[in-house]
Amino acid sequence: MAQNEQQWGSRVGLILAMAGNAVGLGNFLRFPVQAVQNGGGSFIIPYVVCFLVMGIPLLWIEWSMGRFGGQFGHHSTPFIMDKMDRRRYWKYFGVFGIFTNIGVAAYYCYIESWTLSYVFHSAFQTFSGMDQNQVASFFDRYVTIGSSTTGIPYESIVFYVLCLALNTWILSKGLQGGVERVAKLAVPMLLLFGGLLAIRGLTLGASGAPADCTDCNAFAGLDYFWRIDGLTIQSPKVWLAAAGQIFFTTSVGFGTIHCYASFVKKNNDVALNAMSAGWMNGFVEVVLGASIVIPIAIGYLGFDWVMENAGFNMAFQTMPYLFGQWGQFLGTIAGLMWFGLLFFAGITSSLAFGTPVLSFLTDEFGYNNRKAALLFGLVTLIVGLPTVFFYQQGVFDEYDFWSGTVSLVVFALIESVLFAWVFGMRKGWDEITRGSDINIPRIYKPITQFVTPIMLIAIFLTALVTPKDNDWQAAFSGNWELDKGSIIGKLLNKDVTYNKSWFANEFESETAGQVVSITQNSFGKQVLNVGQPQNFYKVPGGTPKPYAKASIVPQGAQTFDSLVVVKTYSFSKSNQIKVAPGDDLQPGAIIATGSFTNRLFYTDMARLLLSLLFLAICFMVYKASRRQRKQAQA
Ligand code: PHE
Repeated sequence: MAQNEQQWGSRVGLILAMAGNAVGLGNFLRFPVQAVQNGGGSFIIPYVVCFLVMGIPLLWIEWSMGRFGGQFGHHSTPFIMDKMDRRRYWKYFGVFGIFTNIGVAAYYCYIESWTLSYVFHSAFQTFSGMDQNQVASFFDRYVTIGSSTTGIPYESIVFYVLCLALNTWILSKGLQGGVERVAKLAVPMLLLFGGLLAIRGLTLGASGAPADCTDCNAFAGLDYFWRIDGLTIQSPKVWLAAAGQIFFTTSVGFGTIHCYASFVKKNNDVALNAMSAGWMNGFVEVVLGASIVIPIAIGYLGFDWVMENAGFNMAFQTMPYLFGQWGQFLGTIAGLMWFGLLFFAGITSSLAFGTPVLSFLTDEFGYNNRKAALLFGLVTLIVGLPTVFFYQQGVFDEYDFWSGTVSLVVFALIESVLFAWVFGMRKGWDEITRGSDINIPRIYKPITQFVTPIMLIAIFLTALVTPKDNDWQAAFSGNWELDKGSIIGKLLNKDVTYNKSWFANEFESETAGQVVSITQNSFGKQVLNVGQPQNFYKVPGGTPKPYAKASIVPQGAQTFDSLVVVKTYSFSKSNQIKVAPGDDLQPGAIIATGSFTNRLFYTDMARLLLSLLFLAICFMVYKASRRQRKQAQA
């Protein structure tokens, strides 16, 4: 067996690499949206509680499991777990620690590639002079493969492949020469850029408000993030969101922390290292992450607008326009900093996805780094291309749900039981505290042993059978209908109400509304827009603004309703559209005939692909263990 004798260059390098691992797109894109959707300041309470009783114990568990396995020359979860107990099956649970990384890398690198492309477009000032709608539709075209935004054909694929190639190349340079080196450059840079942009977010106030906007004030955004009104704390949905965010952001449940920690020497500290990286990540998330996108967007577009439109894509669909308001020069700099920051945050995380996979191949199959990196790049490409090609058909979300959410909780539950109950809390506590540079509060012993696994079980069960609309009262009084977002509901495709077969000759409308327009796009597709009425106000001389609450309408403004496009379908040339502009649609009404491949087909294929990936890794683990047994006998 080839011995993997890599090591971290220095403690600073290790902590920066681990911080780079944790600080990622989750901190700047996912967190603000989760907070907005789950009550703003009130989200902070479940978030902090989840960090204290699950995040911290799991960080310690994973760091010490990693360092433990490293002593035996194993740096990936299947065989780290194998060393913790005599029973043979644990290594198959460790498959999660490889599977999740490939499944998440596949779509994570896609977002990372957007940031790379937007760095490029900021530098070349593609967005200069565009209005908000143009910036937003630039993004929409970007993710619609085949339509080029800049003349580069298949631009989104080009950048995706480029991004993966870059990751592969860095990974092939090894731990110290690749991962650690990049982290030492990227983490300080992203802190610098993040700090500067946050200052802007914190000082913008109402100074950017267009004349006719009454709720354009960045302070309102900050206030929303920091005002705790306590109302959402009883909702299981908010707790689930908080736990999910803690997992994703601290990188627990993945197997990457085990891998990084497995290169730490037996008697060197893990407890303080884990805290340094964990708290730094929290700081970047809660302070920097909350001070950029949302406040700046509110400063220019208004509180109501942002609350309604907050989503992952907002960073791409609005920021270039907002920066444009600062003038050509500053706008370009801000664009470079923002997308550069996202790119740095992204790449230090995607490299982390690669390391356990590379270690698995080098430790257990004797690959060298180059060969292992190439295989990782190739497999990620194969698993990832469907997210690129079928982004709009929901493949991306499917990956995020199964490999980026459910798997994390399942794996964390398994490892916490293995650590505290099978390996045993006495030995476990020794592992956590050996060589420690801090005194760990003893309360963490019972927390790790009881509270963490119980919380994990509760979360898993809650997610498994979430009742319809999160109505637990109704559920417990005998009416337990599953929610379409619950794990079982998802498995049963409860979220698919129309167009329920893979292939069909008729296409049903998925929403109510009115047909606004039917046009042809430049690829000969027929595009059908469906709208619903929305309230607008307009001050004399201003542009119409949508509003949700009447209280924000300025005095003297006119109000009116207008149709806003809520759904866009695109049909090929050969399909016959059966409706005309002005028609009212009911959900389920047949709007086109011809031949159709429905969304369900793509999401089922995504699940199949992920299942195959999981099985393939199980098979490799089996092969590796046979190999080890033979070597032991020889
Ligand atoms: N923590 C990263 C983020 O916030 C995601 C990640 C998870 C990275 C696991 C590496 C390993 O974006």
